[in-house]
Amino acid sequence: GEPLKIGLLGAGNVGAQVARTLVEERELISSRVGAPIKLIGIAVRDVQAPRDWKIPGELLTTDAEALVDQADLIIELMGGLEPAGALIERALRSGTAVVTGNKALLAVRGGELSSFAAESGALLRFEASVGGAIPILRPIQESLSGDRITKVMGIVNGTTNYILDQMDSTGAAFDDALAEAQRLGYAESDPTADVEGHDAAAKAAILGALAFHAPFSIDDVYCEGITAVSAADIEAAAASGYVIKLLAIVEKNDDGAILRVHPTLLPRTHPLASVRGAFNAVFVVAENAGELMFYGQGAGGLPTSSAILGDVVSVARRLHGDSAHPVSADTNGKWESVRALPVDE
Ligand code: NDP
Ligand code: HSE
Repeated sequence: GEPLKIGLLGAGNVGAQVARTLVEERELISSRVGAPIKLIGIAVRDVQAPRDWKIPGELLTTDAEALVDQADLIIELMGGLEPAGALIERALRSGTAVVTGNKALLAVRGGELSSFAAESGALLRFEASVGGAIPILRPIQESLSGDRITKVMGIVNGTTNYILDQMDSTGAAFDDALAEAQRLGYAESDPTADVEGHDAAAKAAILGALAFHAPFSIDDVYCEGITAVSAADIEAAAASGYVIKLLAIVEKNDDGAILRVHPTLLPRTHPLASVRGAFNAVFVVAENAGELMFYGQGAGGLPTSSAILGDVVSVARRLHGDSAHPVSADTNGKWESVRALPVDE
């Protein structure tokens, strides 16, 4: 039948990688969906701008609204509140599925956008919005839905973890480490959101809303970033066996829940102390499951594109009406039997 039409909004750090996979790996993604998919257009501000991946010129457009109206599924990777918010609303209200990584928007309007989706029956997925490549939202929303989550705590901003780690391990200056995090595609387009803790606070609001089934927004999160953390603080912490990490913590208490983001002193033996570079790690505590830990690359175009494409495949399977999750034969059906292989050190 007709391929499922995918429209992409944004072709920056993450969007360019998503575009590359949808074009170069179209067959793989189609086979994972169990139906053909097609990237029909990519909306950007400047069609001439150089990109991480050379996008076929005929795909680029500046008319995002027209693209939304033509697509069966929209991937929003523009970032920011507007025009991303209006475009997502437009898609959802008309029943078009949306996949987004836009935590800033979700932490302000997530509840409202979910209700537009519920009204029209459109699907809305946002796994990439917290923890980059780490599958963390679906485990909270689905795998743990028969349990009671009491606490979620972790490192959820790659840029600030990269900066603190560089300052700690190489003595790098704050500004140099930030510039490198920007060059590597970890930072937000305005990196104030990272270093002031707003990005982690947005993620804390999303985690709190999903974990506690409550309409938390970024306004409910106490937030302190890392701009006041000096080289001297990091040295003093190191001298006494500690490391400084920016943590997001959402926790149930007698009055409801408390959501906070702030720099924290951790003993070097703590599992979160060993989270280096732009990696993230999230602990989840649930009444019956006990303690769970999720770890992986928390930022960067390629890792984040994995989470986006996972949502795209999942949504496309639902739209195609094929919930059987076809097993695709990536290896032409040739499987070697593997027994007791030695494990690399
Ligand atoms: P970038 O700033 O690199 O890219 C943004 C893209 O959106 C650009 O292609 C830009 O066009 C386009 N765009 C922005 N505003 C408009 C507009 N008004 N009209 C048309 N196009 C527009 O962002 P990232 O790829 O880094 O991030 C995208 C989203 O993913 C954000 O919500 C971010 O928070 C989220 N995210 C990012 C991660 C990361 O590691 N970078 C990880 C997880 C989530 P042009 O290129 O022409 O300027
Ligand atoms: N700027 C974000 C970070 C991107 O550094 O973690 C991933 O959400």
